[in-house]
Amino acid sequence: MPSRPGTRSGLKAAAPKAAPPAAGSARGSVAAADADAAVAGGDGADSNIRVVLRVRPPIKRELAKGDGTCVQVLGSQAVRVAPQLSSAAAAPAAGGTEPHMFSFDHVAGESADQECIFQEAGSLIVDNCLAGYNGCIFAYGQTGSGKTFTMMGTEEGGGAGGRADASRGLIQRVFEDLFGRLAKGRGAKYVLECSFLEIYNETINDLIEPSRSNLQVRESAEGPFVPGLSIHAVQRVEDVVALLRTGQANRRVAETNTNERSSRSHSVFTCWLQSKTVDASGSPTTRRARLHLVDLAGSERQKASGAQGERLKEATAINSSLSVLGNVIMRLADRQQGRARHIPYRDSRLTYLLQDSLGGNSKTCLVANVSPAPVNLGETLSTLRFADQAKRIRSQAVLNEDTDDRDALRREIKRLKGELSAARQQAGQGHPQFIVRRFCCCFLPVRQRTQQVHPSSSAAGPGSTPA
Ligand SMILES: Nc1ncnc2c1ncn2[C@@H]1O[C@H](COP(=O)(O)OP(=O)(O)OP(=O)(O)O)[C@@H](O)[C@H]1O
Ligand SMILES: [Mg+2]
Repeated sequence: MPSRPGTRSGLKAAAPKAAPPAAGSARGSVAAADADAAVAGGDGADSNIRVVLRVRPPIKRELAKGDGTCVQVLGSQAVRVAPQLSSAAAAPAAGGTEPHMFSFDHVAGESADQECIFQEAGSLIVDNCLAGYNGCIFAYGQTGSGKTFTMMGTEEGGGAGGRADASRGLIQRVFEDLFGRLAKGRGAKYVLECSFLEIYNETINDLIEPSRSNLQVRESAEGPFVPGLSIHAVQRVEDVVALLRTGQANRRVAETNTNERSSRSHSVFTCWLQSKTVDASGSPTTRRARLHLVDLAGSERQKASGAQGERLKEATAINSSLSVLGNVIMRLADRQQGRARHIPYRDSRLTYLLQDSLGGNSKTCLVANVSPAPVNLGETLSTLRFADQAKRIRSQAVLNEDTDDRDALRREIKRLKGELSAARQQAGQGHPQFIVRRFCCCFLPVRQRTQQVHPSSSAAGPGSTPA
């Protein structure tokens, strides 16, 4: 089973809903996966957070206003933001009048489809996950900028659609790729398990089993985790889609002035993958990876969203946790410049849970979503500045790989053989018997010891010991 600190209670209590038992295997082992795939695409442990910017097309309301756009995509890596790009004079003071230029790993314009976003943001993370690195993809941006559309797809698809649905989101595509590559495998064994939670008003709730609410974040040697969260084995994309649909139905969503279906909570879909491969000499290698797929709630201005009562309380919690996230990212970027800074991960549940993904053991990709409408210029600039800081952060992903003890033993035998031959040369007298005996007593089975030290005693029984 994938190594998931503190999830045992969850496993015991939660029978997987989405996954029927696999033939001949306990809890969802996927056989015959591609051993080679597991090492492809790893691009080293130390890397910057990858940042993909997505500019969504104008929505009906914005088109009706006829304000044009304040965002201009310049090629595949640069973007220019300025109020005067708009056809009408709607220049909020927040943006000033000067154009602002930004560059990112990839900039996807209004016409970029969901597959393009997967290729730019998801594909490499799948490579790394198969290679044994933890990963994280998180969608960030103001309310209504397209985060949920990017991660989950359209509402019509129930948050996840069939393969014919071109609007299906990044999470589903990640698993289509993952399972596709596992299916091409030869002889490897894989286990995949998933959980789905939301952080609503600073409270963690299980989205698959909503009775599990008000959960806590704890830390272990393998990173932060949520005890009591239900864990579900998955064996095929359809199992993941079923979990996404259940979770989306339980997630808090509400209508505001800026978005008909505004996410009122941050959601975190997590997958643990464990793969076991066996090399030509019969030595097994186990790789583990944890993948967080995060759809954040969006920042909002009360004036624009018209939030009141419950909505206002939610907006306050959302803005405050996003402000902690911004603070964490800013300080991590500062630290990259050599400035010693305390990183306030514990100031919000979101940053506490995702601390590894932000500044530690993870290969991480940020999808920054922006609206092209001039009325949103201030928020768009704020998202671009956040993304600009994030791209400066270097994470230190650790390869989660265990080789069998036999490998270590083989290496030790090789080392001792080297010592033996050096001792021989030093002594200049053939085979020093005492070294041979010590070497053999340590590492060879009884029968072999008997045969090697006393070739004449090859007929000795299994209980024989060397003289
Ligand atoms: N790339 C896109 N192409 C077409 N429509 C899009 C795109 N991105 C977003 N939309 C549409 O814009 C609207 C808002 O998108 P979405 O709900 O994903 O925003 P959000 O960032 O998740 O907002 P919130 O923070 O309030 O949850 C939706 O109607 C969605 O279908
Ligand atoms: Mg949303």
